[in-house]
Amino acid sequence: MSALTTPRGPVLITGGAGYIGSHAAQLLMERGVETVVFDDLSAGHREAVRGEFVQGDLADTGAIADAIQRFKPVAAMHFAGKCYVGESVTEPGLYYQANVVNSLNLFRELQRAGVRDVVFSSTCATYGQPEVVPIPDDAPLGPITPYGQTKLDVENILASFSRAYGMRHACLRYFNAAGASPDGTLGEVHIPETHLIPLLLEVASGQRDELKIFGQDYPTPDGTCVRDYIHVCDLAQAHLSAISLLQGGVESLTCNLGTGQGFSVLEIVQAAREVTGHPIPVTVVEPREGDPAFLVSGGTRAASVLGWTPQRADLNTIIEDAWRFKRAHPDGYPSSCAESR
Ligand SMILES: NC(=O)c1ccc[n+]([C@@H]2O[C@H](COP(=O)([O-])OP(=O)(O)OC[C@H]3O[C@@H](n4cnc5c(N)ncnc54)[C@H](O)[C@@H]3O)[C@@H](O)[C@H]2O)c1
Repeated sequence: MSALTTPRGPVLITGGAGYIGSHAAQLLMERGVETVVFDDLSAGHREAVRGEFVQGDLADTGAIADAIQRFKPVAAMHFAGKCYVGESVTEPGLYYQANVVNSLNLFRELQRAGVRDVVFSSTCATYGQPEVVPIPDDAPLGPITPYGQTKLDVENILASFSRAYGMRHACLRYFNAAGASPDGTLGEVHIPETHLIPLLLEVASGQRDELKIFGQDYPTPDGTCVRDYIHVCDLAQAHLSAISLLQGGVESLTCNLGTGQGFSVLEIVQAAREVTGHPIPVTVVEPREGDPAFLVSGGTRAASVLGWTPQRADLNTIIEDAWRFKRAHPDGYPSSCAESR
C-alpha cells in the first residue's frame, strides 16, 4: 500500500454543509487539515459548516473558479448533489443537471487550476438490482433509476479525466449512511426526510405518529428490505484515507463503503425501540417500485486499498449516536427550523 499523505493545504468540500460532507469536514479539521466548504445551502445548513465557507452554486462556474483561486485547494471532496431516488424518476432533468452537469463544471475548474485529486460520493445505486449479494466491488453495474445513472455517469467522467488529464479519483460507493457525530453536534437533517433511522426517531420524538414500512413480502427472512447501514463517521474516515492515498500518489480507485452486514427494516425498528424506549408503531404499505430486497456490501477493496475498516458499525451505536443528535436538535439545526416553517 502507498504511503498515506495527509493533505498539506486546503481541501475543497462541495456539499460540506450537508449530512456526510459536514462530518468529513469536521474530521479533516480535527486532523489539522484546512477545509473550504462550497455549498449553496439548497439542502445544507450553515451551522453544520466546519472551516471556511463559500456560499455558491456548482451551476455557476465563475463562483467555483473564484473559490479555487482564492483558497488554492490541493484536493477536493465532492459531496454536493441531489439525492432523492424517487424524485430522480419524476424529475430526471433536475438530476442530470445537479449531479452530472454540475460535477462536470467542478471537474473542469479543478483541472484548469491543476487540482488533481478528487474523492467522489458515489452510491450502491450504481449496481441497480444486484445479481449477487453481498455485492463485490467489481459487480456488474446497471442503475435502474436516474439517480443511480447520474452517479455512474460522474464516475465515467472522472475515469475520462484521469486518462486525459492525469486527475486521480476515488469513487466511493456508499451503502446507507446513518448515525451522527458522537459529540452530538452534527447529524442527519434532510428536508423532507426519507431515511429510515431519522424517521424512526421522529416517531420516537412524537413528531410523527408511525413509521410506514414499504412492503413485507420481499424474499428476506422477515419479508422487509435488508440494507447495509454505515456510520457517517466511518464514511468520513474513509474519505480522509482516500484523499491521503491520492495525495500520496496512488492510482485512482473505486470501492464500496459498507459494513458487509445487512439489517431488515423490522430489525432496525426493533433496535430503535430498544434505544429510545418508545414503542414506535408501524404500518405496512405498498412496496416501492424497484426497491431491491437486499443491498449489502461484499466489497474488500476499502480494507485492502484504503486500509479502512468501520469502527462504529454496531447497530445500537449507530442509532444511539443518531438519537443523541435528535434529542439535542429535535427540529434539526436552527436554519432547518426556519426552512420548515
Ligand atoms: N445519505 C446517503 O445515505 C447516501 C448514500 C449514497 C450516496 N450518497 C451521496 O452522498 C452525497 C452527500 O449526501 P448527503 O446525505 O450528505 O446529502 P445532503 O443533501 O445532506 O448534502 C448535499 C449538500 O450539497 C449541497 N448542494 C446541492 N446542490 C448544490 C449545488 N448546486 N451547489 C452547491 N452545493 C449544492 C446541499 O446544499 C447539501 O448541503 C450525495 O452526493 C449523495 O448522493 C448519500
